[in-house]
Amino acid sequence: MSDESRANFGSKIGAILAAAGSAVGLGNIWRFPYQTGNDGGAAFILVYIGCILFFGIPVMIAEFTIGRHSRSNTARAYQILAPGTQWKWVGRWGVLTGFLILSYYAVVAGWTLEYFLQAAGNSFIGKTPEQFTESFNTFTASPWRSVLWLVLFMFATHFIIVKGVQQGIERSAKILMPVLFILLIIMAFCSVLLPGSGPGLEFLLMPDFNKVNSGVLLSAMGQTFYSLSLGMGCLCTYASYFQSDTNLTKTAINVATIDSMVAILAGLIIFPAAFSVGIQPDAGPSLVFITLPNVLTRAFAGLPWLTYILSTAFYLLLALAALTSTISMHEVVTVYLHEEFKMSRRKAAWLVTSICGFIGIICALSMGIGKEYTLFGMTLFDIFDFVTAKLMLPIGGFFISIFTGWYLDKKILHDELNSGGHLPVFLYKAIVFILRVVAPIGIGFVFINELGVL
Ligand code: PHE
Repeated sequence: MSDESRANFGSKIGAILAAAGSAVGLGNIWRFPYQTGNDGGAAFILVYIGCILFFGIPVMIAEFTIGRHSRSNTARAYQILAPGTQWKWVGRWGVLTGFLILSYYAVVAGWTLEYFLQAAGNSFIGKTPEQFTESFNTFTASPWRSVLWLVLFMFATHFIIVKGVQQGIERSAKILMPVLFILLIIMAFCSVLLPGSGPGLEFLLMPDFNKVNSGVLLSAMGQTFYSLSLGMGCLCTYASYFQSDTNLTKTAINVATIDSMVAILAGLIIFPAAFSVGIQPDAGPSLVFITLPNVLTRAFAGLPWLTYILSTAFYLLLALAALTSTISMHEVVTVYLHEEFKMSRRKAAWLVTSICGFIGIICALSMGIGKEYTLFGMTLFDIFDFVTAKLMLPIGGFFISIFTGWYLDKKILHDELNSGGHLPVFLYKAIVFILRVVAPIGIGFVFINELGVL
């Protein structure tokens, strides 16, 4: 594809918001709270913040460098920067990972549509906590309802991808992000002010380091890559649309900050409220879908219209946040097929939508009628989550840091990091050191510890 047909993001803030749009999604609001709940609360959050600093931001800078310098899809990017080598497999690995994540992510994204409709239809008011649990279980067990929403969500993603992404992504992110942020702050306040929320706050803020084991480290590392959309060439693809004077380091820090703040806000909404209404923090993937409607109905028991507005707005924004993430995954695979196999963009998009939709349907069914079919105690849905988030993304991140730290011409890295503002020398050196040594050894260490591999 020529440079002219690769539209750029129109502004620097647009680039930040588009990347943040990919990063902020179900990973922050749905996955982060239940991982935190499963893995020990505050201690998990501290490890997670460490992972963002030592793996997340540097790998993001690496992906930005690769993408903007090559101005290409993630697989071709490696062929441009390392012609005739096997590095292209890192890009292809990313495309495969994106494809697999999209397939099961869209299932949960579909749940947000169901909950948006329930909220808009005023069906939360008057429900008891038990009824919320029951209605979630009935919904996910129903073979056709979750499939219907999944298919609808895939079509919505498809439609935007075909319509031309850059404009759509940039414009929607500019409005969506600030509104989502304000809504989350309001809801966090409501949750903290609920009677009996104290233990929830304690759970989030008082770390108990006895709870940190190698499983927690792997979870936090997986969550970092997942939440920041790293390790699969997604931000690499977006960076190929960045302007040539966008400051990559600043953009990476901004995106990571926005993403972490949204995750922490989600935690502040869920845990105080969960403790207040007596829901176990380790309730798993259903946590957001059971706790949140519960919180909203209980917090404003005397003001049903406020519950109505907040819950409708919340699920709508969550669906839109998920959409800006599914678009980014879809884009990685579509642009790869389009540019590498000379397919029209439309045809490539159809191929991705239909195959991911099909796998998604099987994942959705695995939570309901297929619940008995498990492997190592996990349903197909859980297996997809485990393999992609905890294995494939960190492996991608490992090779991306080695590629940028050791293989990539240092002049390219230096020039890319210094365009759009001079980077202090110590910061440049620190980034190179982390990419060469800290990130690969850190990721490798977590793997060896938890899985006995590498
Ligand atoms: N970061 C997204 C989220 O938090 C998920 C995602 C993962 C998007 C990988 C793109 C690539 O919801």
